Amino acid sequence: MDRSFTLEIVRVTENAAISAAKLRGRGDEKSADQAAVDAMRTALNSIKMDGVVVIGEGERDEAPMLYIGEKVGTGNGPKLDIALDPLEGTTLCAKAMPNSLAVLAITEAGGMLNAPDTYMSKIAIGPGYQDGVVDLDASPSENIISLAKAKGVSPEEITVCILDRDRHASHIESSRRVGASVYLIPDGDVAGIIATTDPIETNIDMYMGIGGAPEGVLAAAALKCIGGQMQARLVINNSDEEIRAMKMGIDDLNKKYNLHELVSKDAIFSASGVTDGSMLSGVKFYENKIYVETLVMRSNSGTVRHIKTEYNNFK
Ligand code: FBP
Repeated sequence: MDRSFTLEIVRVTENAAISAAKLRGRGDEKSADQAAVDAMRTALNSIKMDGVVVIGEGERDEAPMLYIGEKVGTGNGPKLDIALDPLEGTTLCAKAMPNSLAVLAITEAGGMLNAPDTYMSKIAIGPGYQDGVVDLDASPSENIISLAKAKGVSPEEITVCILDRDRHASHIESSRRVGASVYLIPDGDVAGIIATTDPIETNIDMYMGIGGAPEGVLAAAALKCIGGQMQARLVINNSDEEIRAMKMGIDDLNKKYNLHELVSKDAIFSASGVTDGSMLSGVKFYENKIYVETLVMRSNSGTVRHIKTEYNNFK
């Protein structure tokens, strides 16, 4: 995977972010998502690659575009797997709330878990800790105490990011019981997981809870580049989801994945801000110019770039 892909990928998430941002705050999730999908697909198809969507908008019968298995790119060039979420946090965008993103990750073929569109239980922390500091199967309080010890602070100084959902009532209660601060987010767990990589900036040390499986693989691609630990397990709720997971080649539905099983080959990850967020500013439209901010990183080199682009003639 050539490093020149980095800028190609940035253009893809920039285009999706700009198109979604034009519909920010209009209360219309569907239109904003569709605009992002259209823009991302057009930009992807101009790249010289033989790409296939492995994490996408859904399965072929439910997603007309960027469905799992769809071929993208010009058809010549390297064989690449693509994980994408043209608008992560559709409701955040529709309500112009923080942290909606356009997100894309690529690896060489076979480099990412082909996750079904189900839920996934996840735990993540940033870089700098020895392996095994947190464990998906330990209780929230055990993980907080262990992380606090590794960080050399008391549990009161640990902040845990959790999606604000009823299903997380016991995670929230258990975290607060040991004194941790709980940072509840309304949506957007890709941003929540990436936030753990820069606790000085974001004040978030750990992410835990159940969110989308596709978002889990995308977030894992980001952590693979920037460092950190993550564990995850699919949450399969019914026989339909079981069949979908099996169809995607998953035979052990109870498997606990570590970061390098979620994303096993070198990855490039790019996220552009749609609305302002903890790490990225949202798209700004000002006097015929468009400003968009992107975080792009490569696992191979460990390079992390914050790119601020100014479009003077955006088409
Ligand atoms: P969308 O962009 O598809 O709306 O997803 C937003 C999101 O908050 C994800 O970040 C998260 O993984 C998932 O939804 C959680 O699902 P649910 O809203 O069903 O709890």
